[in-house]
Amino acid sequence: MLKDKVALVTGAAQGIGYAIAAEFAKQAANVVLADYNPKVNEVAEQLNAKSAGQITGLVMNVMDNDSIKNGLDQVINDFGHLDYVMNNAGGGVLKPFAELTDDDFDKTINLDLRGTFQCMRAEINVFLQQGYGSIVNTGALGSIYNPGGMGAYNAAKNGIMGMTQAAAVDYAEVDCKINPNAVRTKKISF
Ligand SMILES: NC(=O)c1ccc[n+]([C@@H]2O[C@H](COP(=O)([O-])OP(=O)(O)OC[C@H]3O[C@@H](n4cnc5c(N)ncnc54)[C@H](O)[C@@H]3O)[C@@H](O)[C@H]2O)c1
Repeated sequence: MLKDKVALVTGAAQGIGYAIAAEFAKQAANVVLADYNPKVNEVAEQLNAKSAGQITGLVMNVMDNDSIKNGLDQVINDFGHLDYVMNNAGGGVLKPFAELTDDDFDKTINLDLRGTFQCMRAEINVFLQQGYGSIVNTGALGSIYNPGGMGAYNAAKNGIMGMTQAAAVDYAEVDCKINPNAVRTKKISF
């Protein structure tokens, strides 16, 4: 059971994000469903009615640093801490490579890769302050395997996998409470 734990899930108004949020709720966690679609508030209200923990909606755009900061401030203000984050908001334009426009590429990279980066950076800063916290990012089969039509999406999801590993290496051995500025520098030989 996750009673008294606080979980934040992005892209939680529907789909996989909602399913993850509902699983946290089943475990009695307090859950913040974040989404840029305001319908997330109604969705959270409905989940709250059948959950033991406190379930709230948060209108937050993962592509907007101010929105992310305000969202995290609100979570800390409401619950006092944050234990788990699932950076799930994503999606992308799927087309054969030669048909992808610059706009398709930018939209996909900005939502999936940059959005996840911006959220992670802000969340890690919260975790460094409080001394703990866990992040899981949603990749896709497109992180590791390419069935075709995924030029932009594969670039973004593959990037999320590398970025997740990079953050894990940076903070794997940091004792946040003792030294919030400590970052592990690991010698890597090629
Ligand atoms: N559906 C699949 O088959 C599949 C497979 C592998 C990976 N994924 C990944 O899983 C995640 C969720 O997929 P899904 O199928 O549930 O998608 P979905 O489109 O059903 O839901 C995505 C949610 O993210 C929200 N969202 C979009 N842009 C946002 C933004 N800028 N800020 C905040 N919220 C935003 C949407 O409003 C929506 O509620 C995505 O990262 C996707 O790439 C999906």
